Amino acid sequence: MSAAVVAEPHPHSIEVVPLSAHIGAEIRGVDLARPLSPQQIAAIRAALLKWRVMFFREQFLSHEQHIAFSAQFGELTPGHPVFGHVDGYPQVYSIAKYRKATRFAGQSLLRPWTGWHTDVTAAVNPPYASILRGVTIPPYGGDTQWTNLVIAYEKLSAPLRAFVDGLRGVHRFAAPAGTSGTDVFDKAVEQHTLIAEHPLVRVHPETGERALYVSPSFLKEIVGVSPRESQVLLELLWEHVTRPEFTVRFKWEAGSVAFWDNRSTAHLAPSDIFDLEFDRQLYRTTLVGDVPVGPDGRASIALQGSPVGAAAAVALN
Ligand code: SIN
Repeated sequence: MSAAVVAEPHPHSIEVVPLSAHIGAEIRGVDLARPLSPQQIAAIRAALLKWRVMFFREQFLSHEQHIAFSAQFGELTPGHPVFGHVDGYPQVYSIAKYRKATRFAGQSLLRPWTGWHTDVTAAVNPPYASILRGVTIPPYGGDTQWTNLVIAYEKLSAPLRAFVDGLRGVHRFAAPAGTSGTDVFDKAVEQHTLIAEHPLVRVHPETGERALYVSPSFLKEIVGVSPRESQVLLELLWEHVTRPEFTVRFKWEAGSVAFWDNRSTAHLAPSDIFDLEFDRQLYRTTLVGDVPVGPDGRASIALQGSPVGAAAAVALN
């Protein structure tokens, strides 16, 4: 019997497996714990621009490896500009089940777009990408969903596209009116209020595509229209961007990593985990972003708070 010749996979080749029509691909054939080759970095960057969110399986990274992987794609921000970072790791943010102690449960107005957001859009330069790794994952429940804001823009009617092209909105990360600022969450938010005015349509700095930049949880009002006009128009746009055909839903496992383009997506953290007794723990890094620009060339402006810069570097061994 002749020995079978098994071809070794090319060390630089990665496989991109699309998961839905408009967004999301699983990336196979790469070990994120090791330094990537220039070819692998280029392939992952290309997949990020095309598929908006990429998923990797069975990548059991330490915090150090998570940071080192992320740093190959840009400068890391502090873990979170308001809620801080994991002890000893200024660039890592803990996404634990009870991080906000479900303080809004039962109080908020639950609409289909409740909880959808793009990371830190209350900053004048929201992170360009986020890299989230799963460590403790429930056996069921706890999926995350992402939506493609470029296809959402393209699927608006032409008159509505022309209308929203000229609009701007205020994104706010502030303690809700009437809260006392006495608990840890309110205190952190009070001390780090972030407010920015962004275009409602953002031109992607790498591809030139237009994205409907309407982060539902942070975008509070449209500039220059009446409060009622703002509310009705935003609800129309939020309903539109969260249409299921623009989305992908990811089932986490321990060792899964999601890496998304924060300039052209919004995502929804799960709330079903609060109906289950299982724990859930993920860790996130984010990469320093640029200041968004609208189709008219006007850049976003900070109304309160500073741009999110790079986290202080720490030695990684
Ligand atoms: C996030 O909003 O970055 C976290 C998403 C999740 O908890 O699934």
